[in-house]
Amino acid sequence: MAAEKPATCNHPTLPRYLQKVEVEDLSRERKDLIATLPKESGFFNNCIHQYNGFWLTTNRLQGTLNCQNHFQAHDSDILLVTSPKSGTTWLKALTFAILNRKTHTCSHSHPLLTTNPHDLVPFLEGVLYLQTTMPDLSSFSSPRLFATHLPYVLLPESVKGSRCKIVHLCRNPKDMFVSFWHFANKIRPETQGLIPIEDFFEKFCQGTVVYGPFWDQILGYYKEALERPEKIMFLRFEDLRREPIKVLKDLAEFIGCGFSKDEVKGNVVEDILKLCSLENLSNLEVNKTGKVWFGIDNKAYFRRGEVGDWKNFLTIDMSERIDLIIKEKLGKHGLKF
Ligand code: A3P
Repeated sequence: MAAEKPATCNHPTLPRYLQKVEVEDLSRERKDLIATLPKESGFFNNCIHQYNGFWLTTNRLQGTLNCQNHFQAHDSDILLVTSPKSGTTWLKALTFAILNRKTHTCSHSHPLLTTNPHDLVPFLEGVLYLQTTMPDLSSFSSPRLFATHLPYVLLPESVKGSRCKIVHLCRNPKDMFVSFWHFANKIRPETQGLIPIEDFFEKFCQGTVVYGPFWDQILGYYKEALERPEKIMFLRFEDLRREPIKVLKDLAEFIGCGFSKDEVKGNVVEDILKLCSLENLSNLEVNKTGKVWFGIDNKAYFRRGEVGDWKNFLTIDMSERIDLIIKEKLGKHGLKF
């Protein structure tokens, strides 16, 4: 396959996440593929393409294909998987803190105090493989920790075939939707105005938002987790909120570094939870003023982090429509929210 050029800066003053991959810069093979895919308009003067049942921007599609073709999973890797706005930032912070607790105790020099979780645990298709087919991963020490929003069917084969661990976090789709709508408005250029909630809702329910449809994303991992519980851990944001200590202990166990009795006695679990709390992270200077690698303000990733915030934004009709989708698409598989 011909080497691809990096995505072009079609507007040097735009943050990277808004810079579109120019289709002309893609290889012939990619151009031909994209031309065959169903297409819809996105919310940022861009378009999204339907690939294997899921909607991706041109950038993310490019990153996905690069990652599928070139990422080689190690048996010791840990992959964090979420749908956008399901608590990715929180899961990244917690898992990073658990894994690195011997090197970095929860002291004043912890990396999470000066670096946003997204820069400590990069996305495969959204960062590492976005602009290059061969990112240099040599600085990642074992076990390597990565993140992705990719649905199970789009994961690189080496991830599915190796013994690497997958941690999937999902969230009540109603809260996910509300969070997504706020986030989209925050990162949209002011000149484009707010996205009407009804418009965003319609697309969310049709599944035509980036990484949609949410039900197939969640279902793919739910089914796999039932079949291969030793490989895939299926977590819920709501459980993490309700019983964080239990979930954190289970998570540590799953990724192969369970807490010792002494650590539990010494409140290490509670210390990690405090370090990674919304209140703590969102008030750090780095998260009030910094930007993540791809140009989004760090503060856009922190809002309320509550369970049930949807009640403040959805009408009864909207709530019932999502209930129906959940019942039809997920209920028959035993999955409820
Ligand atoms: P809300 O918009 O409902 O407040 P993601 O990280 O996948 O982009 O999801 C963002 C959501 O997770 C936002 O939800 C955000 O407030 C919440 N969040 C971010 N960091 C968190 C943390 N440390 N603890 C709990 N929730 C957090």
